[in-house]
This record gives sequence, structure tokens and C-alpha cells, in this order.
Amino acid sequence: MSLRSKERRGNVAWRSPSNIALIKYWGKYGDQLPQNPSISLTLKNSFTQTRVSYYPKDVQGELSFSFQFQKKSHPGFYDRIRKYLHRVKSYFPFLEDYHLDIESENSFPHSAGIASSASAFSALVLALETIENLVHDGGHEMDLTRVSEIARLGSGSACRSLFPIAALWGKTPESETSSDLHAIPMESQLHDIFKSFHDSILIVSQASKKVSSTAGHSLMRNHPFSKVRYEEARRNLKEMLEALRLGDVERVGFITEMEAMQLHALMLCSNPNFILLQPNTLKIIERLKDFRLTTGIPVYFTLDAGPNVHILYPDEYRTHVQNLIVDQLLGYCDNAQWIQDSIGEGPMKLE
Ligand code: PMV
Repeated sequence: MSLRSKERRGNVAWRSPSNIALIKYWGKYGDQLPQNPSISLTLKNSFTQTRVSYYPKDVQGELSFSFQFQKKSHPGFYDRIRKYLHRVKSYFPFLEDYHLDIESENSFPHSAGIASSASAFSALVLALETIENLVHDGGHEMDLTRVSEIARLGSGSACRSLFPIAALWGKTPESETSSDLHAIPMESQLHDIFKSFHDSILIVSQASKKVSSTAGHSLMRNHPFSKVRYEEARRNLKEMLEALRLGDVERVGFITEMEAMQLHALMLCSNPNFILLQPNTLKIIERLKDFRLTTGIPVYFTLDAGPNVHILYPDEYRTHVQNLIVDQLLGYCDNAQWIQDSIGEGPMKLE
């Protein structure tokens, strides 16, 4: 072993949240780099907890690990992690010398149709980085820029989950420190009203997606509207940054909805086309708009790459909006499922 080991065996655990994009990333180039910058809010209650136990292995070199999801083996996830560990092993020299037992679980129901790759990859990379620092003398301190960069290689949106409240990923003239390689924290750019925002996630369907995000991103390569989309996203991001700073909830809500609709419009006219929206997604959106119009309450929707609806609103309206959800919207959900989430402080190391 060329590097001296300080810690021969042990385990580390991290909890890392999912995030919801206000300005969407859809379309990539090169090594998982975004075609346009994106902004997300960090969630609180939708998270992954990952514990990694490590000990020296007999034969150096070959990657060696086990994986359990919700206490069971999961060949699909195992395979994705295997490929990922191969891809990032140059960042983690300790992988040469150590075997890993990885155990992961989500706070939200399994297959609830919530994009969990952001929370899963950010939690995994935080654990790997912690071990790297523990086992190698002179190892680097936890550097969230580096962690974000490595998480990006697992799932683009994962690089935004590392920061409290909000994150920006992708090079933009609006921020000198922005980069396509990693996300940057954005909390200081946000008016306080957004820091206590709620995100109620209505589960319209638990079924796994017919078209993966990876396939969807790649359809942007020959998409007739890709150029105009990337320009739109840049314009929206500039306006969004200003509205977030000023506390302009209506403007933020308006741009957020436009971004969600553009994302799904791109899917509808990809070649081949695909539809992730479901009839109940549209019914919820219609009901929400009616409610906003009749009550004047600033409540807005956004969508990920799936049929589930994220409902965003300021804390002062939580009772009104949650009554609306329970009385009028849960009927459109799979098994009346929803997740009461809100904006969170980012990852947490567990004992
Ligand atoms: O991180 P990926 O490759 O799963 O892509 C995420 C894409 C969206 O969730 C649709 C948008 C986003 O910016 O999070």
C-alpha cells in the first residue's frame, strides 16, 4: 500500500436531500456537463441516508463492494454504483485498498416516483470523501466544490444537493464563481421568504418512468428547439436570480411554472416524442390555478421528469394550501400519497 493508512476500518454515514429545480437542466454535453445553468431549492424531508463500512481487502486493485437498498439487495442499483465507482475511482485512491459495504435508504416511499438519484449520489459521495480523508495521511479537507463535481458524474442534479437552501449549477455571466463542473451555494442570494418555502409533492404515479432522464437528455442533441431552449433558460435564470433576491414570489412562481412547462414541451416534441405527464397531473395543475385565481394566494407548481406535481408556497399560506391539497387534490394522487416537504439545510453527517 503506497499510502499510509491512518484508519484501518470503520464506517461513516451521511444524510443528503433531494432538490427541486426552478430553472431546469435538460440537455448535456461532454462529461455530464449542462447545456444551460440551473437553479434548485434544497429539500428537507426527501433524503437518502447512506452508511459505508470500509476495511482493507486481501487483493489490492479490483473494486470490491456490497450494496443494500432498504436492507435488501438491488441488482439494478448495484450495477449503477459499480459503473459509477469505476468512473470516479481516480478521485478516491482508497478504493484500491478497501472493501466497502454500502447500505442506503430513502426517507420517501420506495418508487414513489421522486427523483432520488440526486440524494443518493450526493450521500454516497459525501461518505466516500469522508473515508478518503480518514484513511489517507495528508488527505484533503472536505471540499464541497470537489464533492459536487464528483456527485455530478453520478447524476447531474446531484451536484446541487450539497448546499443549504439553494444552489446554482452551470456557467453564467450572472455569477463569477459559477461553473459547469460543479454547483455553488446560493443561500446568500435569496430573500428570506424563500428560505421557509414549502414543497408539497403530490404523487400522481409511483410507476417507474418509461423514458429515463438519461435518454431524455440525449434527445436534446438533435432537438429542433434545443438552441432556443438554452437561450430561454439563460434568460429565465437571469430574471429568476433577480426575483429571488428581491423576494418577488409571483415572479419566481411565474418563471418556475414556465420552466416546468418548457421541460415537458421539449419531451412532447422530441424525436421520438414521449409523454411523462398524466391526466391527473393536468387536473391538479388546473385546480391549483383556479385556487390561485380565486383566493389570490401565491401558490405555484413545478414538475420533474415525471407526472408528480411539486406545489411551492410561502410558509404563511401553509394551512390554506394544505387544506386545498387534502380536500381537493389527493383524489388525483396514487393512493392519496403526498410528501410534505420544505426547504432544507443540506446534507448532514450522521453518527
Ligand atoms: O440529474 P438528472 O440527469 O436526473 O436530470 C435531472 C433533470 C430534471 O430533474 C428534469 C431537471 C433538473 O434540473 O433537476
